[in-house]
Amino acid sequence: MEEAGALRSHRCGELRAAHAGLAVRLAGWVHRRRDHGGLIFLDLRDASGLVQVVVHPDAAPEAAAIAADVRHEFVVHVRGEVAPRRAGTENADLPTGAIEVVATAIEVLNASETPPFPVNQETPVDELTRLRYRYLDLRRQRMAGNLRLRHRVVAFIRAFLDAREFVEIETPVLNLATPEGARDYLVPSRVHPGQFYALPQSPQQWKQLLMVAGFERYFQIARCYRDEDLRADRQPEFTQLDMELSFTTEEEILALIEELYAALAAAVAPQFALPAPFHRLTYRESLERFGTDKPDLRYGLEIADVSPLVAGSAFAVFRDAVTGGGRVRGIAVPGASETPRRGLDALTALAREAGAQGLVTAALGGSGPLDALAIEDVRSPAARFVTAAEFAAIAQACGAGRGDLLLLVAGTDAVTSRALDALRRHLAEERGLADPLRLEFAFVTQFPMFEWDEQEQRWSAVHHLFTAPYAEDIERIESDPGSVRSHAYDIVCNGQEIGSGSIRIHRRELLLRVLARLGMAEAEATAKFGHMLEAFTFGAPPHGGIAPGIDRTVALFAGERDIREVIAFPKTKSASDPMTGAPSAVSARQLLEAHIAVVLPSAEGAAGRTL
Ligand code: AMO
Repeated sequence: MEEAGALRSHRCGELRAAHAGLAVRLAGWVHRRRDHGGLIFLDLRDASGLVQVVVHPDAAPEAAAIAADVRHEFVVHVRGEVAPRRAGTENADLPTGAIEVVATAIEVLNASETPPFPVNQETPVDELTRLRYRYLDLRRQRMAGNLRLRHRVVAFIRAFLDAREFVEIETPVLNLATPEGARDYLVPSRVHPGQFYALPQSPQQWKQLLMVAGFERYFQIARCYRDEDLRADRQPEFTQLDMELSFTTEEEILALIEELYAALAAAVAPQFALPAPFHRLTYRESLERFGTDKPDLRYGLEIADVSPLVAGSAFAVFRDAVTGGGRVRGIAVPGASETPRRGLDALTALAREAGAQGLVTAALGGSGPLDALAIEDVRSPAARFVTAAEFAAIAQACGAGRGDLLLLVAGTDAVTSRALDALRRHLAEERGLADPLRLEFAFVTQFPMFEWDEQEQRWSAVHHLFTAPYAEDIERIESDPGSVRSHAYDIVCNGQEIGSGSIRIHRRELLLRVLARLGMAEAEATAKFGHMLEAFTFGAPPHGGIAPGIDRTVALFAGERDIREVIAFPKTKSASDPMTGAPSAVSARQLLEAHIAVVLPSAEGAAGRTL
């Protein structure tokens, strides 16, 4: 039975032919209004969908007078009767398209200014305007759908993990600042003058402490904060599915994540093809074949190493690279031998932008088998120096044939990888090689434990400093840190890192050794990580975990390129909020209470102005 006095008897989107003849009360927004020679049609929208309301001026003159004045986005209340639409006027695209509501009375609950952009269409609107009026942007179908999808993703994850005895535990947002990782967001302490909390970059230490506490299986839908340069896949605050398990192995964690993502995709995004089992690549193999640790496996364009074939070449660019300790690597672009000069120049510019000295292109024309390749068949700036036999051998190594285009880069591994990765991505985009309805998940494993930081002139942790090294590599932490492999792993999909994790160090001595390798003497290590070092002396179990990004996961399932499209109230690329105006200056009194003196950078970059 209806609740007496309820504003609504039904929701707009739920009315069907079976409701015909029923008196209904609806409320919602005016999505569209059309006048048809006296008859007025309103499409009424609420969260459940749309329904057509028709107002007959003869039968309901008062309602018609009001309907004549309402505009888009007015909030109205409608009383009326559900009626089948006239034959031929049904709308098969609309779930309510078989019926309409014949209005007997209409009341305006609230008027609306003309919105700064159409809410009832998905027309492109500039980012700033969308964020300035985000509440209107979120009324639009695509954005509302994205946020509902996000809800379903999180709800599914919670149920999945609950069924597997994971406990969701909240961890503090006001934390000790740590020296590693990205830049912290700092919060001044009023009661401890001159001291600061840091917002969590992730709940990493807390979840490990929860393992010491004996929970064995923890998760949290955790908000994380990092003051870093923003891109399409990075926001200053974002959300992780943070997880940790005790008495586990790398294999067990990867199997659990594979099961979760396969089930999640099937539940919330069944339109995607999702090949199982997920691909497995070691870090080295991934860089070797794709030039990146987050490869897009929806297409080929695999990288080949042609160094041995050109070590003795008369072409100095190739020969010098190899004798200088670098390599020559390349990819074959099928059917692209006719790429015009302009296209080749663009590819060269792209390789340069990615840090390569240049790009050697070679278009293979003519006909017949590859061994019969003549130098006249090759269109390449290097054709004067590289022989036809060399080109044929290179082509074979790259899997190219006549009609294909070879793209070759000489340089260090880092340079060739970066350039060829950029080329792969660009070509896939340009040629539409990546099926948008396919999810190629992969686990990338065996990351190196340490990498040399040129700027800081010291070793740093590739994942984070709690990551466990391979047992057999531990002996080389001091002597050859670059060769130590770690139990860190990423889950990647379609060219994006979706999540990262690792098996952790759970012994104090090993953590101290790693900290020393990162340049931290015991006193400093104790000052910054004393709580972890101490916790590890009280029977810390072996443990490990992972943290997939929720924003990236939802963007993937929503088919969105930018995670802002799946965040209700994101920040701009310069970390501001055009709607509320954050960040802002604060009052002198607030600064005083927080014991803060502000030093603004001066125009010259010299000592700043103090407020
Ligand atoms: P990591 O730093 O690799 O690992 O982060 C894990 C995942 O979080 C997401 N992510 C982001 N998403 C949006 N905007 C950002 N600025 C951003 N930064 C990271 C990504 C990424 O893969 N504590 C470890 C995990 C662990 O070892 O368990 C961690 O935070 O999807």
